[in-house]
Amino acid sequence: MLGGCEANYMIISASMLAADFSQLDRELKRVQLGGAQWLHLDIIDGAFAPNITFGVPVVKSIRKKSSLYFDLHLMIQRPMDYLEVFAEAGADCITFHLESEGDPAEIIDRIRSLGKKVGIAISPGTPAEKLFPYTGQIDLALVMSVEPGFGGQKFLDGSLQKIRALRKAAPGLMVSVDGGINAETAPQAREAGANVLVAGSYVFGAEDVEAAVYSLKCTSAAR
Ligand code: DX5
Ligand code: ZN
Repeated sequence: MLGGCEANYMIISASMLAADFSQLDRELKRVQLGGAQWLHLDIIDGAFAPNITFGVPVVKSIRKKSSLYFDLHLMIQRPMDYLEVFAEAGADCITFHLESEGDPAEIIDRIRSLGKKVGIAISPGTPAEKLFPYTGQIDLALVMSVEPGFGGQKFLDGSLQKIRALRKAAPGLMVSVDGGINAETAPQAREAGANVLVAGSYVFGAEDVEAAVYSLKCTSAAR
């Protein structure tokens, strides 16, 4: 066990997109033992973003195997049509995109009525201010620090300003950052006010997952 640090309240949400899908059970155990508290599940439909990932059957199957908190990130065109099935499949928190179709207030209500936590994500082109009207009704704001679609992209610095703005506007909100998170970008995101760090390739690609997770929670920013 590695020692604690003052940033130990940070939540690390391991993005499954970077896992070896032929051995998911083992991969999920590996990141949980390494100290990740959440599992980030990127559901992409090939319409909202240019990739097709996985859907309900996969979420359902791994739900039986894992006690991690399931942090679903819906990058789909019509989230309203799929909330119920993903809630039943085992989501703990459902995050949809502000840029997708449908009335955000209705989508929030629907997720709540299904008994799940609610998140709203914004893509790099969307200003943080667009989220302000909803911060009182949601549990989590997800700031994308890459364009939705793929793991392994480079962190976009513009996301730091958005994290700061959201943290200031809604001090009690969980602010998550997703894309290009590693030991260099994590301290910047933490300093800006993020308290959930989504990391795919950095965590699943690490030989020593515990050391990788620890570095996301605890390394300080290079000055
Ligand atoms: C991109 C996804 C991310 C991605 C992160 O559309 O939302 O969650 O898997 O992967 P890394 O950490 O490799 O940038
Ligand atoms: Zn994601």
